[in-house]
Formats: sequence, C-alpha cells, structure tokens
Amino acid sequence: MNSPGCQQANCSETLKEGMGLTPEGRRESRVCTVRVPINIALVKYWGKRDQTQNIPLNDSLSLTINSLHARTTLRVNYEIGTDSVKINGKSQTVTGSRYQRVFEEVRRWERKRKAGEVAEHPVSIQFEITSETNFPVSAGLASSAAGFAAIAECLQKIFGFTDSQKSQLARLGSGSAIRSIFGGLVRWRRGTQPNYEDSIAESFPSTHWPSLRALILVVDEGRKEYSSTDGMQRTVETSTLLERRIECCDVNIDKICAAFSNRDFSAMADMIMRDSNNFHAVCMDTSPPLMYLNDVSRTIIRLVHVYNEKNGSTVIAYTFDAGPNATLYLEEDTVQDFLDFATKQLRFAESAQTEVEEILGHKLDESVNNGALAQILQVIYSQVGGGPQLLSLH
Ligand code: DP6
Repeated sequence: MNSPGCQQANCSETLKEGMGLTPEGRRESRVCTVRVPINIALVKYWGKRDQTQNIPLNDSLSLTINSLHARTTLRVNYEIGTDSVKINGKSQTVTGSRYQRVFEEVRRWERKRKAGEVAEHPVSIQFEITSETNFPVSAGLASSAAGFAAIAECLQKIFGFTDSQKSQLARLGSGSAIRSIFGGLVRWRRGTQPNYEDSIAESFPSTHWPSLRALILVVDEGRKEYSSTDGMQRTVETSTLLERRIECCDVNIDKICAAFSNRDFSAMADMIMRDSNNFHAVCMDTSPPLMYLNDVSRTIIRLVHVYNEKNGSTVIAYTFDAGPNATLYLEEDTVQDFLDFATKQLRFAESAQTEVEEILGHKLDESVNNGALAQILQVIYSQVGGGPQLLSLH
C-alpha cells in the first residue's frame, strides 16, 4: 500500500530586527512562504462568547491532516498602500473582512512597539497575501483554518511575534485556525481571563502515533449552505441542548487524550463518533435547524458501524464538520480491508476509484460499484500530525 506524504514542523527561524534597510533608510519588503495543514476537530468548537475575537464557549481538540494544506506567501511592504489577498487565484475583498481584522491588529502592535522608540521609520505597513489550497474551499474541509494559521505563521516569522501573539492572530482570522499553528493533537482552551489571553492552543505532548491515518470521503464539493460562523451563532441563540454539550466537552477531551496516550484506538474512536453525533444533534436542535449531513453522510455513518460490528471491535471512526464530507480515522492496517468493503457498498466516481486504486496499490475488481450516481466524489488519504513548514523567508 502506498504511504501518504509526511511533513515535519520546521518553523524556528525568524527575521532579525533591523535587517534590510533601503539606501533611503526605509525597511525593505519581507516575504515569507509557509505550508500549513488543515486540522479536523475530534471534539468540535461550536459557539462563541465573543464574536469579534472568536472566543469559544467550549474547549476543542483536533488532529492535523498532512495531505490537505494551504501554501501561503505573505509580503510585507513598509509603505502606504492597499492590502491585497488572493486565494486560489481569486482576489478577495479585504475591507471589512477578517483579513483586515488581522492586519489592523498587527499595525496596532507595531505602532505600540514603536511608540517607545525613536520613530526613525514610519510604521506604514502594507500586506499582500497569495494562498493556494489543494482541496475545495468552503466545503466543510477547514480551509480557513489552514489559511489563517498560515498567515499567522508568516506574520510571526516576519515580525518576531511570540507564540501567544501568533495564536491571537490565527484566532482573529478563524477560531479553528488556532489549532493549526501546531502539529499533532492540539487542544484549544476556551480560557477564563477577561482579556482572553489564556484562550490559546496547546500541543498534546504524546502525539506520535505513526500508524494513525485519515481517510476523507468528499461527497459534496460545493459551498456549504450556512457558514460555521453564522450557524454557531444561531445555535447559541436558539438551542437548549448546547449548554449540556458544553458541559461534556472537557471530559470528552480528557478521555480522547487518555486513549491517545494508551494507543487505545477503540476508546478514542468511540468518543470521536459520539462528539460528532452530539454536535450534529445540537445543529438539529437549532432553530431553524442546521442540516449539514446529507443522505450519503448518513450512509457512511451506518457503514462504519456495520464495519466495526463485523470486526468485533471499533477500528474506524467518522467525524463530520459543518458539511456532509466524512473524515474517517483508522490505523494503517485497516485501510485496505475497509476500502475493499466500502467500494462494494458505496458508489465511487471514476476519479475517486482511481484514488482508491492509488491508495491500495492495485486495481479494483470489475464488480465494484461505479457509474452516474456517484456518492463519493473524492478520496483523500493522509498521515496525521504534521505541523506548519517554513518554505522560505527573506
Ligand atoms: C464545525 O473556525 O470556521 O469546523 O471561528 O467563526 O471562523 P469561525 O468558525 P470556524 O468553525 C469551525 C467549526 C467546526 C468545528 C471545529 O473545527 O472545531
């Protein structure tokens, strides 16, 4: 079986203060390029106590998915100009956006930092971002998490910010982005301080589980009906179940971390599925309900339970974010048998069949379901636990 690519965290460099002045004494532009994987939550973040700062009502926990990433270049020019953001070749509106929120925060910090010094150089800063993702944006595959974590990573490298500042910048862009600034199993603590400085991400120490894999089944490549931001606010305003969910998150996170430490896949998988189902129950308890799952998602849920029963133990887990695409967690030695099983139960688009064949390293037999009414459009197989990678800095 072919092994999916692995990334190592490699982000210890930053630029030294005072580098690169132009002959006129202005600071030269700085450019940073990073690659940052998405993360998929095992215990979901859903609901905010501060909507502007993206402060959550509950702690959440996630794993990074190495094969799905944003490759982002950030250029900082020390002059007055218009900020620009391009994602997958498409220019984004910056005014009034989350990007602007992040840029303004950096300008504010830089002004504050300069205030005590002789202001030799103006603090005018212009930002230019170009970012490419290797997966569909806004289809519930956490694209903003990778994108904003990458921006925060670049900003840290260029300005020498602390990890706590990097956390804040990622979070300002998108809450779940805070969990992509580290590799591995990452917990985002909701925090209790009024200034939110303890609402930060923490990397779980015993993160190395080399045989763990993610298998993503894309069932819909379209934009989701309600954004997470709007959806969770509606839940906060209308759901009576949310309060109970919030009470349980810490305990569930502790159980998953304990299972992870003991390499107890079955205990971990059980909690992951329970959290996903609980999260979607809360979405259904929202008025009007948030229906992120579709018929294919529900078929996958049934299939996983049938497969686990057939095996006599829980060897595969599903989780669904705010969209119908499934993320399955399993160990490497389960992948082949599960895919053999799934390709007989679900209909795969031709390109998805090819992806399965690449994962298995052999052709599927003729009897495999295929055809016009494909349920599975894309299959992504990945190692988990990779972190941000610095590609260049100058
Ligand atoms: C279901 O992080 O996209 O994926 O903070 O408003 O940008 P904002 O929301 P976002 O919400 C993610 C919701 C989720 C669960 C999770 O990733 O924890």
